[in-house]
Amino acid sequence: MMTEAELAVVRRAFAMQILAAVGVDNPPLEAAYAAVPRENFSGQGPWQIFRWRMAYRPTPTADPVYLYTDDLVGLIPERRVNNGQPSLHAHLINQAAPKKGEHVVHVGTGAGYYTAIMAHLVGATGRVTGIEFDAELARRARANCAGAKNVEIVEGDGAVAPFATADVIYVNAGVTRPIDNWLDRLNDGGRMILPLTTDQAFGDLNRTPNQMINQGAVLRIEKKGGDYFAKWISGVAIIPCAGARDEESERALAKALAGGRLNEVTRLYRHDNVADDDCWLRGAGWCLAYR
Ligand SMILES: C[S@@+](CC[C@H](N)C(=O)[O-])C[C@H]1O[C@@H](n2cnc3c(N)ncnc32)[C@H](O)[C@@H]1O
Repeated sequence: MMTEAELAVVRRAFAMQILAAVGVDNPPLEAAYAAVPRENFSGQGPWQIFRWRMAYRPTPTADPVYLYTDDLVGLIPERRVNNGQPSLHAHLINQAAPKKGEHVVHVGTGAGYYTAIMAHLVGATGRVTGIEFDAELARRARANCAGAKNVEIVEGDGAVAPFATADVIYVNAGVTRPIDNWLDRLNDGGRMILPLTTDQAFGDLNRTPNQMINQGAVLRIEKKGGDYFAKWISGVAIIPCAGARDEESERALAKALAGGRLNEVTRLYRHDNVADDDCWLRGAGWCLAYR
């Protein structure tokens, strides 16, 4: 087994490599990746590493060194609930840009690894509220984050659970439409990371990773005054968000994704009164639009 001193070096290298992989130059985020031990949020080793078409492979031993790669780690492998890919989260957290003193709400906190990374970024004057639907994961996250005074873990459905207004809402499960509960609680200047996914974005191991990732789109929504600015920032394959999906919006999303032009989207409107030519995706009472 590697010693703690050796692991500290491994974590530092991991942090540098993960951020470099997605072209992110963000020293506080790099320091957070270097500081937070992934093994403290991954349960008992050996760990199940998600290998896409080969499903899971166990690490050879319970040496934490095996967790410092850009792979997904099974939290509940039988349900394909994973600790997400470090480089994807580095990109998404960089886009969310949590700052010292801010309030972050993390929907789908899992066992708390990225919650702890964002807690590191907001510091002692800020706080992170992690909301987790699965009771066992919420319990694990609460235990794993017990040492962090600026983290609160709530067990519940993030689509409806009330929370104090937030500067960042970081959603880690796939929705088919924007959720009013989140838009209503985003502070002016606040940023939301929103993964929109079709039913094809996760689950079928016969699909290649790229086929799955193309069925998901992560949007960065920024609230400025009464306006919501929207921008595509990534593809994604991620498990569905309970309570935040419906068939009608899923069908409309699949059609919009097939039509392309996602990277031309600039606005989210909380009404659907937008000209067809300007509309990328319309739902009842909302629209993602080109201008
Ligand atoms: C892809 S996993 C990611 C977990 C964690 N972010 C990580 O990377 O370690 C998504 C998580 O979202 C949770 N989830 C799904 N729907 C939810 C909801 N409506 N509210 C809160 N959590 C939800 C799942 O239970 C699961 O733990």
